[in-house]
Amino acid sequence: MAEPLVVVKDVQKHYGDFQALKDIDLTVDRGEVVVVIGPSGSGKSTLCRTINRLETITSGTITIDGKELPKEGKALANLRAEVGMVFQSFNLFSHLTILENVTLGPIRVRGLKKAEAEKEARELLDRVGVGHQASKLPAQLSGGQQQRVAIARALAMRPKVMLFDEPTSALDPEMINEVLDVMVGLAHDGMTMIVVTHEMGFARKAANRVVFMADGQIVEQATPEEFFTRPKSARAKDFLSKLITH
Ligand SMILES: Nc1ncnc2c1ncn2[C@@H]1O[C@H](COP(=O)(O)OP(=O)(O)O)[C@@H](O)[C@H]1O
Ligand SMILES: [Mg+2]
Repeated sequence: MAEPLVVVKDVQKHYGDFQALKDIDLTVDRGEVVVVIGPSGSGKSTLCRTINRLETITSGTITIDGKELPKEGKALANLRAEVGMVFQSFNLFSHLTILENVTLGPIRVRGLKKAEAEKEARELLDRVGVGHQASKLPAQLSGGQQQRVAIARALAMRPKVMLFDEPTSALDPEMINEVLDVMVGLAHDGMTMIVVTHEMGFARKAANRVVFMADGQIVEQATPEEFFTRPKSARAKDFLSKLITH
């Protein structure tokens, strides 16, 4: 059997005296979709940020496709290209058009010619449903459209794994589904994904596994069906009861 795509092993992460990640062990197989959920401050964003090395770890190892995360330099830039990241705030370059936002990375990092990068970018923008907005600036698009551009921009780097950190939390309710639909499509196409979200509908539709975090630890892991209907830990039961009544 092929080795897992992402292996997080015995990872500890401190911010000064504060320990944000404790004894994290997590493996994600190729094509697997893992939803990470848990209360605010439980370390979900920190986990995502350590996986593409926006944050260093105190100890432990993280490997992507068999390679340990490089500390810096060109090797790190290449690794970053393999790990796509979509944040709650879309982080598009406001002075660049939608098309330029998507072609920038492929031209600079993958070394594509402009015409080739634009062809790929237009295909990706079509795939996320904003192909007709290519020449606009980000501010001219709705939040849902901007987030779909952010997904296209990450995909343009041909990542092996996509990380999503609460990608719909900043969106108006009517825009949430258009972003989740794109993510469900990606999951069905076989993309390996780690998704921090409290959208249970997405988890049920697309996730192979739910990982529940609290206080910097992975408290339990189960299939979505199992987790949402029969959570084992008191922390998860408490968290889910609050999620449902809101
Ligand atoms: N740069 C930082 N410096 C110090 N503490 C941080 C930093 N980033 C996050 N933390 C702390 O680490 C904990 C986990 O944060 P985070 O990973 O953002 O949680 P979550 O995404 O689950 O809400 C929180 O207590 C937070 O205050
Ligand atoms: Mg967070």
